Amino acid sequence: MEIAKRKSEHFSIAVEKDVRFRKKSTGFEDYDLVHCALPEMNFDDVACETIFLSKKISFPLMISSMTGGYDGATTINGQLAEVCRSENIALGVGSQRPIIENNCFLESYRIARKINPDGIIIGNIGAVQVTETDDLSVFDRMVDLIEADGIAVHLNPLQEVLQPEGQAQFKGVLKGIEKMVNGLKVPVIVKEVGCGISEKVARKLVNAGVSYIDVAGAGGTSWAGIESFRVEKKSLVERFWDWGIPTARSVEMVSRVKGTRVIASGGIDNGVSMAKALAMGAVMCGAALPLLKVLIHQGIEGLVSLLQLWREELKMAMFLTGSLQIRDLRREGVIEKNRSSQ
Ligand SMILES: Cc1cc2nc3c(=O)[nH]c(=O)nc-3n(C[C@H](O)[C@H](O)[C@H](O)COP(=O)(O)O)c2cc1C
Repeated sequence: MEIAKRKSEHFSIAVEKDVRFRKKSTGFEDYDLVHCALPEMNFDDVACETIFLSKKISFPLMISSMTGGYDGATTINGQLAEVCRSENIALGVGSQRPIIENNCFLESYRIARKINPDGIIIGNIGAVQVTETDDLSVFDRMVDLIEADGIAVHLNPLQEVLQPEGQAQFKGVLKGIEKMVNGLKVPVIVKEVGCGISEKVARKLVNAGVSYIDVAGAGGTSWAGIESFRVEKKSLVERFWDWGIPTARSVEMVSRVKGTRVIASGGIDNGVSMAKALAMGAVMCGAALPLLKVLIHQGIEGLVSLLQLWREELKMAMFLTGSLQIRDLRREGVIEKNRSSQ
């Protein structure tokens, strides 16, 4: 029950306080999409649809893993699933650790699949839990509970080392991930939670058999920021508020590694940033807190409108770069560093 309390605290702080990075941005502002004055196509023909985890979605976005495992999470995951069904985008549920620890709050995860039977739903577990067992059946149970299309393992060393209840035991995580990749029936996605993934780490992950890497870089939600409202050692947390690899830089680094399928997330908050991330090599984008805040303050309708706006912005950016399909964004010369950053 201690986990449920902590999760609920994280949720309330994230929604109510300003926990964004302070001095560091995503870095997407350092890049420009190169304007194409001769797109040679009709705007209406631009297609934002894409295939992810073998399912077709209306545009390459997932609502990143956030909730599950406490009172109130059932409603939130239900509402997120409803929005994802209506807009046909993917959804990640929050950490399914309670399934290992006390088998509680199962409905808070199951609801997502009940509401969106055909959509993409991704399970979630922490790096430390991956090292704690050799028995893959616990992860199978997480997948089965929501008929998951994939399972994300979150790497959160900063959070574990900062939070009072943290378990900063990361020895053996890579081996554990490798076992999951070899033993589970669905793809394993490895993600950060707001500090980004370096090229070196991406190479290790690829060598362990991982292909989907969600960078969850710096520039959006700061976990040190969230923990700053819970811990006593405020100055220590403040020092790490802006820790991490900016999202754009992380996308650039991980895209260089052969065999990766990059998910760009961490501070993504509009369709033009999505287009930039896709042009830099990502196959998919994710967003967490900016979407959750809109759901809480403006309801399902508000979130649906925002997602439709992001899709329209992405479609316009595609048209204005002469990109008929998502994969066309990845052509040579669609994106360049702008002058102010050189
Ligand atoms: C309230 C909240 C809860 C979160 N819980 C999880 C979690 O359980 N598992 C996980 O992998 N990431 C979790 N995250 C991290 C997000 O999935 C995401 O990687 C991070 O917030 C950066 O994205 P953003 O800048 O769009 O918010 C959580 C984020 C928030 C705000």
